[in-house]
Amino acid sequence: LGAALRYRGTVTSTQDEARAWADEAPGGAPHGAVVVAERQTAGRGRRGRAWDTTHGTLVFSVLLRQGASGAPLTLPELALLPLAAGVATARAAGTGRLKWPNDLLTEDGRKLAGILLEADLRGEEARRAVLGIGINVSAAPPEAAHLREFRPDLTRAALLSGLLRELHTWLTAPAAEILAAWRAHNLTLGRAVRVQTPAGLLEGLATDLDPQGSLLVQTAGGLRTISAGDVQLVGT
Ligand code: BTN
Repeated sequence: LGAALRYRGTVTSTQDEARAWADEAPGGAPHGAVVVAERQTAGRGRRGRAWDTTHGTLVFSVLLRQGASGAPLTLPELALLPLAAGVATARAAGTGRLKWPNDLLTEDGRKLAGILLEADLRGEEARRAVLGIGINVSAAPPEAAHLREFRPDLTRAALLSGLLRELHTWLTAPAAEILAAWRAHNLTLGRAVRVQTPAGLLEGLATDLDPQGSLLVQTAGGLRTISAGDVQLVGT
């Protein structure tokens, strides 16, 4: 990853830059191409939220054109990629724990990093997906936290190179290893959660992940399997 890399000043979103590069003639950006930017004017987060890029954040996107086998990305692979990227980010950051599916938070629940996967689905597969990561390195919005609080010597360059190495490992790791590593870094399991799903709000106890990477939540109405949703940890 990152053998092809573009470093930009101000962009709308590194996600857009990676897509535009992929569409360039003749062949476009290769698998694993990376776009890093200093600033984004329209950075986006999960579920339609904006992602503020202030000075002191590391923001980049990785173009994925294939799964582990070299074939187009399958739905099961796409389901695990956000978790794999969360594991890679937690390991490279050397601090923080994961809120499902992949927010990196401090122990007291402040956000250190966020991850956005945008896949161009065609039926049951994607020929292209863009994985975007934003990390508060030396500054953060008031309610969030930054990595320098925990690692005073960390630079954005060192973090980026370490994270590309981790992504290289985890994006192609076997599912069972991704799930085990995610559990080892998690802040979600065993906690009371409130989850906004496409089907509505539910509350319960987050008990585990299923083999597909979905979150299992024990509610008053039974065990629910959540494949997409926004989790709030109750009591933080
Ligand atoms: C989230 O927490 O909701 C995900 C945030 C993802 C932000 C990153 S910053 C780099 C890339 N470009 C974007 O516009 N978004 C992602």
